[in-house]
Amino acid sequence: MKYHLASGALAALSLAGTANAFWRMPCRGRTALERVDPIVDPGKISSHAHSVQGSGAFAESVTFDDLRSSNCTSCQVTQDMSAYWVPSLHFMYANGTTVLVQQDGGMLAYYLLYGDDPKAFPPGFRMLAGDPFQRNFTGLAVPDPAKPWTGKDVTQDALRLKALGFNCLHYSVNPPEGTLYRHFLPDKDFLDENCSDGLRLELMFPSCWNGKDLDSDDHKSHMAYPDQVITGDCPSGYETRLVSLLYEVIWNTQAFKGVDGQFVLSNGDPTGHGYHGDFITGWDEDFLQSAINTCTSESGEIEDCPLFNIQSEADTQLCKAEVPEALADDNCEGPNPTGICGGVQVQYGPAYATMGSSNSSATATTAPSYTGSTPLVPTLSYQTSQRSFASDKYGGGVTIEAVTGVTPAPSPTPVTTELIGTTTFTSAGAVYEVAIEEVDVYVTETATATAAAKHKRHLQRHHANRREHGLLAQ
Ligand SMILES: *[C@@H]1O[C@H](CO)[C@@H](O)[C@H](O)[C@H]1NC(C)=O
Ligand SMILES: *[C@@H]1O[C@H](CO)[C@@H](O)[C@H](O)[C@H]1NC(C)=O
Ligand SMILES: *[C@@H]1O[C@H](CO)[C@@H](O)[C@H](O)[C@H]1NC(C)=O
Ligand SMILES: *[C@@H]1O[C@H](CO)[C@@H](O)[C@H](O)[C@H]1NC(C)=O
Ligand SMILES: *[C@@H]1O[C@H](CO)[C@@H](O)[C@H](O)[C@H]1NC(C)=O
Repeated sequence: MKYHLASGALAALSLAGTANAFWRMPCRGRTALERVDPIVDPGKISSHAHSVQGSGAFAESVTFDDLRSSNCTSCQVTQDMSAYWVPSLHFMYANGTTVLVQQDGGMLAYYLLYGDDPKAFPPGFRMLAGDPFQRNFTGLAVPDPAKPWTGKDVTQDALRLKALGFNCLHYSVNPPEGTLYRHFLPDKDFLDENCSDGLRLELMFPSCWNGKDLDSDDHKSHMAYPDQVITGDCPSGYETRLVSLLYEVIWNTQAFKGVDGQFVLSNGDPTGHGYHGDFITGWDEDFLQSAINTCTSESGEIEDCPLFNIQSEADTQLCKAEVPEALADDNCEGPNPTGICGGVQVQYGPAYATMGSSNSSATATTAPSYTGSTPLVPTLSYQTSQRSFASDKYGGGVTIEAVTGVTPAPSPTPVTTELIGTTTFTSAGAVYEVAIEEVDVYVTETATATAAAKHKRHLQRHHANRREHGLLAQ
């Protein structure tokens, strides 16, 4: 089979079998910035601070019903009473004083509709992604090998580490970095020099469910990652595909350009490997299922889903959770001369961090102040990558990848090109092209009719996208 299509990443050949429908939930307001974590530390103060979005009922021992009965949400779709939270990012001056880095635009929660028949979160469902104590990326290649991943790259431990993204934002360089390209916090010099629009923290949640438990002891083992992290196949025992969740939070790291110090997550992590996040559904299950079944636009815009009631961004800012009395004097926003709120110590690793998950057992392996030592992280250059399907309206953009049912590209790919020269570069075995050209690409004969039809649809999408942005998706 042969299609005439816009070129760009030859990764276009590796799509098939999945719909790229999604929507992104803008949660512009922050309901709280506090040391509360109702999943890990129910009923008590948490060891470290979180930036919280969603239902205004967020509290130390919040239940599904509490979330649902709140009078507000900081997300734009008013039917979404979920709670979303991640550690906050802080800047530590050379003298050890910390200040909160400003969050740019709250949070985006992507609802990606992968799988044949993705299911809504059942009432009471909750989960955690990532591990606050993790401090290394030992044994895994930097950058990631080309997909599809196999072997040691598809263990759940590896997938968990690769579910974190630290996206260097530089809007004047197109196309932007791909989602989940870099799995660690870049160092200060790199951020200063290369990331003029800040740093976007990305967190992919596992989407494969064991089909029965709403939670588990570690809040993770009722869920598993599909083998390509965002896409791919679910492991055995976890065959129920839920709607896939991905968080994006942009932090204004540029505000500290040229200032001596370092960035550190609220859990004392300067490496990024300990980034994590939590979710408790606050959706009516039937409503969410209807949205999943019918809101299958590839635009990502919530406005394209007629079921959603949408409130203004200004109204999302009004929704605030009550701060527990015990935290009235907590100083997470700073300037905090005693360091990170909660007395959290900076732990560089690479050993597993020792800070307890409850405040009492907090211990340190390093001095509280910035010592000038660089976290032990791999190096990775600024790298442009595939383009999101969606517009830049929100300053974000997941690079939708489709890997399930891959038909590998014939190598070398037979293409004929007309028009416009471009810059081509190779990363992790995939070839990306920045400018525009028309090429013929051959899809191997083993592609099924359905896959081929979907493929065609994608290509039309790419054409449309090209017009919109002047460059190419995937
Ligand atoms: C929600 O209720 C609380 C009191 O329970 C009130 O302070 C707050 O203003 C209300 N928020 C909205 C957005 O109506
Ligand atoms: C630490 O440094 C910051 C930035 O220079 C300054 O604003 C703050 O006052 C200093 N704190 C102390 C305790 O010296
Ligand atoms: C947690 O530990 C810090 C530092 O040791 C202390 O200042 C703070 O009061 C403690 N918070 C609670 C709630 O125990
Ligand atoms: C890396 O982290 C793991 C925990 O995920 C830990 O078991 C291992 O010891 C760490 N590696 C090093 C070199 O400290
Ligand atoms: C900025 O990015 C370039 C290109 O990836 C890289 O070579 C350079 O080292 C980066 N700058 C810093 C200070 O890390």
